[in-house]
Amino acid sequence: MSNTPRHIAIIMDGNGRWAKKRGLPRVKGHEKGAEVVREITTYCANHPEVKVLTLFAFSTENWKRPKHEVEFLMKLLEKYLKKELPLYQKEGVRFETIGDISPFSASLKERIEITKEETKNNEKLIQVLALNYGGRDEIVRAANRACKAGVVLSEDNFDQFLDTSRLGEADLLLRTGGEMRLSNFLLWRAAYAELFFIKTLWPDFTKKELENIIDEFKKRERRFGGI
Ligand code: IPE
Ligand code: IPE
Ligand code: MG
Repeated sequence: MSNTPRHIAIIMDGNGRWAKKRGLPRVKGHEKGAEVVREITTYCANHPEVKVLTLFAFSTENWKRPKHEVEFLMKLLEKYLKKELPLYQKEGVRFETIGDISPFSASLKERIEITKEETKNNEKLIQVLALNYGGRDEIVRAANRACKAGVVLSEDNFDQFLDTSRLGEADLLLRTGGEMRLSNFLLWRAAYAELFFIKTLWPDFTKKELENIIDEFKKRERRFGGI
């Protein structure tokens, strides 16, 4: 029996170090990283088994970075969404987000909404960008929604209150950049994900490497607590 990598989740880490190694400002690493998102999204859209690709793009903790870097990331995101709309349409990618986008600028929020609306009928892949996302924040907001609705929570009904509701369990969780931590990503959804930590910095990551990781994933025995 082989595993299906239906939902792949990636912590795209190492942009700053990639730039530093080249004597460039950190933000150049983010720019190169956005190109890699394009390559990996195209690969996943054309993979027969991958249906959801969740990418950690900005965490609830990333606001701690210098103001100019945060501003650069916000602008880059807006530019990226505008530029990649034809790619989403060509490759059949539906765009979604998780996380609390309420603090974002009006124009970025508008761009996010336009991209979701324009791509809502695309069916080959759901690309989910985690924006101002934190696993704890997702759980707390979900619990508050349930509370408001007067629902007594269970593991089964909690799902519907999460940002990641409808996305299904993460099967394969990968972090580039060499750190071995989750940094508050997908705490609920990744309960039984197969974890991969690789040294490659995100701007150097390739579809070939993802292909190898998927091959490795297929060889793992997923027991889910059984025997
Ligand atoms: C990940 O790369 C991208 C974001 C967090 C937005 P980093 O910017 O964290 O790069 P390093 O880890 O400092 O190299
Ligand atoms: C995690 O990377 C967040 C994203 C990739 C968006 P960080 O670089 O922010 O995480 P830490 O600081 O190494 O834990
Ligand atoms: Mg980092």
